[in-house]
Amino acid sequence: MTLKPQPADVFVDRHNGPDEAAVTEMLRAIGVESLDQLIDETVPAAIRLQKSLDLPAALTERAFLAKFAQIAGQNKLYKNYIGLGYYPTQLPPVIQRNILENPGWYTAYTPYQAEIAQGRLEALINYQTMVMELTGLEIANASLLDEGTAAAEVLHMFHSQTKKKNAHKFFVSEQVLPQTIDVVRTRATPLGIELVVGDHRTADLTDESLFGALLQYPAADGAVYDYTDFIATAHNNSLLVAVAADLLALTLLTPPGEMGADACVGNSQRFGVPMGYGGPHAGFFATKDQFKRVIPGRIIGQSIDAAGNKAYRMALQTREQHIRREKATSNICTAQVLLSVLSGMYAVYHGPQRVRQFAVNTHAFAQLLAQELTALGLEQQNEFYFDTLTLKLESEELQAAIRQEAEAAGINFRYFSQEGTARVGIALNQNTEADDVADIVRVFAKVLGKSFDKTLALPTEAELNWPDALVRQSAYLTHPVFNKHHSETEMLRYMKQLENKDLSLAHSMIPLGSCTMKLNATAEMIPVTWPEIGGLHPFAPREQAKGYTQIFNDLERWLCEVTGFAAVSLQPNSGAQGEYAGLLAIRDYHEAQGNSHRNVALIPASAHGTNPASAVMAGMQVVVVKSTEDGNIDVQDLKDKAAKYADTLSCLMVTYPSTHGVYEETIIDICQTIHQHGGRVYMDGANMNAQVGLTSPATIGADVCHLNLHKTFCIPHGGGGPGVGPIGVVADLAPYLPGHVVVDAEGRTAGAVSSAPWGSASILPISYAYISMMGGEGLTQATRTAILNANYLKAKLEAHYPVLYAGANGRCAHEMILDCRQFKKAGIEVEDIAKRLMDYGFHAPTVSFPVAGTLMVEPTESESKEELDRFVEAMVKIREEIREVEQGHADAKDNVLKHAPHTAATVLVHDWTRPYSREQAVYPTDYARAYKFWPAVSRVDSAYGDRNLICSCTSTEDYADEPEQLVQADKGPSY
Ligand SMILES: Cc1ncc(COP(=O)(O)O)c(C=O)c1O
Repeated sequence: MTLKPQPADVFVDRHNGPDEAAVTEMLRAIGVESLDQLIDETVPAAIRLQKSLDLPAALTERAFLAKFAQIAGQNKLYKNYIGLGYYPTQLPPVIQRNILENPGWYTAYTPYQAEIAQGRLEALINYQTMVMELTGLEIANASLLDEGTAAAEVLHMFHSQTKKKNAHKFFVSEQVLPQTIDVVRTRATPLGIELVVGDHRTADLTDESLFGALLQYPAADGAVYDYTDFIATAHNNSLLVAVAADLLALTLLTPPGEMGADACVGNSQRFGVPMGYGGPHAGFFATKDQFKRVIPGRIIGQSIDAAGNKAYRMALQTREQHIRREKATSNICTAQVLLSVLSGMYAVYHGPQRVRQFAVNTHAFAQLLAQELTALGLEQQNEFYFDTLTLKLESEELQAAIRQEAEAAGINFRYFSQEGTARVGIALNQNTEADDVADIVRVFAKVLGKSFDKTLALPTEAELNWPDALVRQSAYLTHPVFNKHHSETEMLRYMKQLENKDLSLAHSMIPLGSCTMKLNATAEMIPVTWPEIGGLHPFAPREQAKGYTQIFNDLERWLCEVTGFAAVSLQPNSGAQGEYAGLLAIRDYHEAQGNSHRNVALIPASAHGTNPASAVMAGMQVVVVKSTEDGNIDVQDLKDKAAKYADTLSCLMVTYPSTHGVYEETIIDICQTIHQHGGRVYMDGANMNAQVGLTSPATIGADVCHLNLHKTFCIPHGGGGPGVGPIGVVADLAPYLPGHVVVDAEGRTAGAVSSAPWGSASILPISYAYISMMGGEGLTQATRTAILNANYLKAKLEAHYPVLYAGANGRCAHEMILDCRQFKKAGIEVEDIAKRLMDYGFHAPTVSFPVAGTLMVEPTESESKEELDRFVEAMVKIREEIREVEQGHADAKDNVLKHAPHTAATVLVHDWTRPYSREQAVYPTDYARAYKFWPAVSRVDSAYGDRNLICSCTSTEDYADEPEQLVQADKGPSY
């Protein structure tokens, strides 16, 4: 017998769902002979790549992990006392294992379908409550991308809300973190806002052109100031004031809200999230109640379900960009949900006493350190401080000597100059021990030629070193949730209870069009929690981050190969932030050509809401291009508008394949038209997973695009973030990629869009792993399989639901739109179908985007034929249920769709009065009977919640259980 040895353990076979036999059956159902034929009929010949991707050969999971351990091993783990918004912390192992490393949490999507997302919604409301109480403000959102972005959002919010209509200046204390100033400046410039950076103690707030101010608490050098008088003076001059603050310090310091601040922003990293060489971490944003309708980002609110029970859901702001588009207050879509869940859980686990104790110990060690350093004759300049000391040195030579000695001892401090002289900053943290303090002192003693041989210990008593007015009197983390899960057993069960309420990829496919819920393989996730990935401070010397440098270089090169572009920036933290960064590059390019008047962005009507919102942030004027009846860009309208605005045209923003799930044949003509009129083409890369290996942004004629690594390149969605939105550009736009003020990011000099030079560095290993294990051929096979899976679903479903758009040969791309509008006649809304799918154990496809009243289905390559068939079975059965209503066999209001989803409590009643059986309600298929996923609440009433906005934890007793009247949930798009 002849044996055929060949590699048995091929990752691409794990990533793609259908096996060879399934592919054959699926092709038959579609009506094509081969996958090649399907691809030829789907992807226009004119845009096909003429060569295969030049990427390293695919590795097995084992080989990848071994190789990556070597790469990560080049990163050096020093003790970091740099501060500046990033601190060593400890993620409690019980949270690490059961949330950060648990697909039940990390593979969930943004909680648009609230009934199957109550777990993470509760976790987020805990986070909001924590932020509100610690900052002393009335409302907080569920996270922003980082501290710098949160500060930039404050700038924007104040500018839109100021009563001083012509004021265009914003005061920023010079003691705000340098990277925050950089990000705020980038945001201010296109909006025509001038930053006035100065000393808050001497600032002239009577200047009529000032509309707001930003302060740092404690300041960047560690000094603690009482801002009460500054804020009062600012208010007397009609300025709005924001304070960027440190959550740990706020456990001991009077919170900004109590000083009168209008907003407080910051980074919750210190609450359990590894530094990760810069991110991801959850930026926070808290403000006064009066701003609740304009607060950027997502807010979780409490509402009621159809049975009148308490239920959480995202408040109206969520869909704002999709409804208000260029009038939206911000472009934030993906935020940092998983990271805010981690930080909120940190507070739940430790509770107010333990969190305060961390702060007390840190402060006590800082005092001990100050004492010892002063004893050595050093001058510590901060009169009041929490955890950060600043030493005033007599010379730069001394600074250099300290640096050399510290680095030899494996220690990083902050080295800077102030008022023309050298300084060393030392920021302690929750992990600091007495021996660490001694090690620090020893470095200085050695440099100064003095001896130090004491054994230090945590002081048994300490006083807060600041005046009484700054001593926090108010309580925080008072809700029971922060006070009862302090043992590991309790904590484990609490997290599991929440997890069990949420549907994730661990249960079933999540066929969200545009969102790409593909496999997030375990081997890809494993390095994320390695210390060599998590333990680096983003401002540590670059030679300590050689592993990261290799990751960035390789990944940038690979993404250039995939996109066909000349350069890539990994800095943006989400797709929308990538849009903003890419548009800024276009803007700066035009300016450099002497064409700063080019500011018109053409955007098709079908574009994602973040596109117009980002264009406005980049200082552009949005002109909408029409769509044709068959869903394509109206090329004539585009040509007319490109000609009309030829003198002022900046760019076109175009999604490809379109958000209608079609490879538009006209794309090359479209891009050429824009170029002929002096504009550039921005491609929204959300659908890049339908391009990889088959075509590319450069091939279609785009100049810049963002890639959602949290879609195409396997970073999980984390329940609504983190994300990574790198941008790729053609050569002449490369000089305008974002730079960084603290770290030299490849010599780039444009303003930063994120606080950290490489954004969410610690999750880049996921995409690195995916590309390494797939290789060029595997990535291309994934794209082909995504198209196969989508066309299979189309073939199976189109007899039941009209499919709205298709390409020239009747094929869809990687997703399709099912039209549900005709059911309205029978009173059935698309939302009823979405909710009924939950009874079958599925998450709904994208609802009402890009066309109201439709479902956009994207199966991805990672779903098997069996799972696709189960989804088809559910959709066909639901169609039959709709027909019962259409034909009058079921009541138009009292039917199984209108009452969906069904909870266990709804069916376990003594008197069942509904006109359908309990079995039909909750066990509509054998699969549902065998593997039932129970929605935690009945249909959530969003409009009720928006009318009665409650965004923090309430106890059941506080909550009015008498609903005024049930109204239909709002109909905004959900995806
Ligand atoms: C077409 C499209 N563009 C832009 C975005 C925004 O990306 P992000 O959520 O990463 O900001 C999305 C997100 O779903 C999208 O589908």
